[in-house]
Amino acid sequence: MNINMELIDELKRLKKEHRAVILAHNYQVAEVQDAADYVGDSFELSRIAAKTDADVIVFCGVKFMAESAKILSPKKTVLLPVKEAGCPLADMADVITLRKMKEKHPDAAVVTYVNSSASIKAESDICCTSSNAVKVVNSLKEDKVLFLPDKNLGRYVASHTDKEVIVWNGYCPTHNVINVDDVKKIKVTHPTSLILIHPECQPEVLKMADYIGSTAGIIKYAKESKSRSFVIGTEEGLIHHLKLENPSKEFFPLHEQFICPNMKKTTLEKLVGALEKMEFEVKIPEEIRIMAYNALEKMLKV
Ligand code: 13P
Repeated sequence: MNINMELIDELKRLKKEHRAVILAHNYQVAEVQDAADYVGDSFELSRIAAKTDADVIVFCGVKFMAESAKILSPKKTVLLPVKEAGCPLADMADVITLRKMKEKHPDAAVVTYVNSSASIKAESDICCTSSNAVKVVNSLKEDKVLFLPDKNLGRYVASHTDKEVIVWNGYCPTHNVINVDDVKKIKVTHPTSLILIHPECQPEVLKMADYIGSTAGIIKYAKESKSRSFVIGTEEGLIHHLKLENPSKEFFPLHEQFICPNMKKTTLEKLVGALEKMEFEVKIPEEIRIMAYNALEKMLKV
């Protein structure tokens, strides 16, 4: 038996012993996606987590995602297999600066992308994902919005609303580095492919897309499209999922280095180790969890 088969057997045994469910984000390495019970975008995974009757949720992703699962499922034990799997974008927003911004713009609604810490969500009026950000902003009664932490998603929202949008200066280093020349190059090598891009990319890059959407949106679009060839403008892990669901279609990364180092920290060994040692448990002070829950709950109503 090869090492991966042994690990998978051990994982099955541990899952049963702890009544655990394994969730993996679309950017995880292929072996982790294959070992998971569910693979998806951050928020759909948290909703699955809230609905399961498992006692333990192992969230293979980055910290803010495991936190969202805990916010929605406070009675369950939520494990993040790699403690250091953080999100630089989420870390670009801090509570002190946010409070100062709120004082400066008391008439603005605070709209926070789910790629943020529980403490930032707790300070917000409402959350959004990359797929519903425009809809969330347009649903608000306020004419002014403070959008955080992603400036690219914020600018994308600003271009789809009449409201005034004040954009926080954060960005995802993996998406933000992609530039117009990268898209021009790929259009030369793959002239017939449709180009599907995540809204965390820069506005000039988004202008060159055939479709702009979240990882879940890109999956849906590729599945429903009559086209057979696609360039994927987001973290390369999504391509594994896309190929599995669409074996007769072709998918190419927009850039060879479209890789999130934090998402790649979780391996099959670390996943098994997390359930063996029951670590690393996500804990959120109840007061913050309730406030963050309210911001997420408001988004769900929209
Ligand atoms: P979605 O899976 O919600 O599209 O976002 C993933 C993400 O974290 C982008 O950096």
